[in-house]
Amino acid sequence: MAKRIAIIQGHPDPAGHHLLNAMADAYAETAVSSGHQVRRIEVAKLEFPLLRTQQDFETGALPADLVQPRDDMRWAEHWVFLFPLWHGTMPALFKGFLEHIFRPGFAMEYREKAFPQRLLAGRSARIVVTMGMPTLLYRWYFGAFGVRGFERSMLAFAGIKPIRENLYGLTFADEKKRARWIEDMRKCAARGN
Ligand SMILES: Cc1cc2nc3c(=O)[nH]c(=O)nc-3n(C[C@H](O)[C@H](O)[C@H](O)COP(=O)(O)O)c2cc1C
Repeated sequence: MAKRIAIIQGHPDPAGHHLLNAMADAYAETAVSSGHQVRRIEVAKLEFPLLRTQQDFETGALPADLVQPRDDMRWAEHWVFLFPLWHGTMPALFKGFLEHIFRPGFAMEYREKAFPQRLLAGRSARIVVTMGMPTLLYRWYFGAFGVRGFERSMLAFAGIKPIRENLYGLTFADEKKRARWIEDMRKCAARGN
C-alpha cells in the first residue's frame, strides 16, 4: 500500500557526504520508485534558535524555517529519522529541532486533570543511527539509552507505533558492509516502513 513518508535527516553537517546521506538518498529513491510519496527534511540546512522556556514551548511562535518541516511531518504517515550517535545520544542540533516540532498542539494536547491526548496516533517510525562503537556494546552496556529515550519520551508518548530501528556500528565496517546497509534502506523503503 502506498504511503506518505517523511525522511528526516538529522546529521548536523550540511555538507551531505556522510553514510547517512547515502542511506537517506537510497531510502527516498526506492520509496518513490515503489509508489510511495516522499518529503525530505534536512535539519542541518534549517536556521532556528534553541527553545529556552516552557512558555516558548507552549505558546511561542514556531521559527519560520520549521513551519514547512512540521507540515511535512504532519502530512506523513511514516517517519524515517536518521542521525549519528554523538555522546551516546542524538546530536544537539537534531534534539533542538525535535523540541520545537514536538510542541503541544502537534504531538500532544494537554488537558486539565487528564493524561495528554495523543495527536499522532496511527503513524509509524523508523530510527536509523550510525555510531563508532559496535552496536552490541551500545545495546548491552549502554542500554541504547539515546535511542530508547527518543522512542519512549517523544515517539511512543505521542502515540507513534510501531517504531523500528536500525543501528550500525562503523568500526570494522568495510565498503561491502556499508553497501549492505544501504541495501537495508532500500528494502525498508520498498515495504514503506
Ligand atoms: C561529537 C561526536 C560524538 C560522538 N560520540 C559517539 C559516541 O558516543 N558513541 C559512538 O559510538 N560514536 C560516537 N561518535 C561517532 C559517530 O557516531 C560516527 O562518526 C557517526 O555515526 C558516523 O557519521 P560521520 O559520517 O559523521 O562520521 C561521535 C562523533 C562525534 C563527532
